[in-house]
Amino acid sequence: MRRSLIIIKKGSRKGVAFPHIRRQSRQKSVLTNRFAVVLINPSPELKMLPRMTLGLQQIAAYKRDGFLVIENFVSTTACDGLRARAEEVVREFNPSLISIFSTHEQTRTSDDYFLESGDKIRFFFEENAFNSNRMLRQSKEQSINKIGHALHDLDPVFDRFSRTKEIEQLVRELGIEDPLLLQSMYIFKQPRIGGEVTCHQDATFIYTEPLRMVGLWFALEDATIENGCLWAIPGGHKLGLKSRFVRADAGGTRFETFDDSPWAEENLQPLEVKKGSLIVLHPLLPHLSRENKSSQSRHAYTLHIIDPSCEYPASNWLQRSAEMPLRGF
Ligand code: FE2
Repeated sequence: MRRSLIIIKKGSRKGVAFPHIRRQSRQKSVLTNRFAVVLINPSPELKMLPRMTLGLQQIAAYKRDGFLVIENFVSTTACDGLRARAEEVVREFNPSLISIFSTHEQTRTSDDYFLESGDKIRFFFEENAFNSNRMLRQSKEQSINKIGHALHDLDPVFDRFSRTKEIEQLVRELGIEDPLLLQSMYIFKQPRIGGEVTCHQDATFIYTEPLRMVGLWFALEDATIENGCLWAIPGGHKLGLKSRFVRADAGGTRFETFDDSPWAEENLQPLEVKKGSLIVLHPLLPHLSRENKSSQSRHAYTLHIIDPSCEYPASNWLQRSAEMPLRGF
């Protein structure tokens, strides 16, 4: 008898309720260690078994804590493939347009390059990347903070990584009935220069009414305290939205503050995870990541997924042109 390794495939995809959302041909899913199943000469019907992505305990933990860690959600091969593609994209990038991304000085850096990045692939440098003469201190590869915010729609490798049945099923199980992929970011957190991201809620930057969104944070490398892993305040998502980052009427952006009390940072817990792990983030969860002072990079990829039954305000900083509507899975 011949032995074979089979990855069970799921059934057909569900349709998307919005006619403006372009369907795309289904591309091969990213393989996941978590769902890899070894079978010996399986019958055809076994290949179509449905799978649950989340258990009831995991959903309960997400509701209680505001986050959920799922180990081995994507394979190391998929992580490496995305890293290699990011390297290529950076290699092809000519840094003639520069925008420095820093949550310390969000308003100052919210120039057109940033504000128009919702439907583009754009590059944002670390705040410390430049010397006083505006020259890069080190290679562009080691100086970029992140790439955003439409990698998932404009690059085929990112598209394949972002649109898998596993991700679709997971976000549906978390209550996003007709998921739309709003934004993607590739975050480098390079050794010794990867900057701090101060404590925030993702809903400050992406808001819907009612608030229905899921943030997905994929560890493309081991994330440790040393190289700047995420930290979160468990249960902090129950305390409400503190602020919104919106487009200002006069141009640029501003923060709209509802609650200026300090974060209970003494309650932060580090979320150290292995490469291939997924951290699911509630939009109201307070979280941060510290500087990377180590010699190890901490690459991560993030996706934010919204539900079109909720209103997406025109005041959100992140907008798309009519020519490039949001798409589902
Ligand atoms: Fe965040």
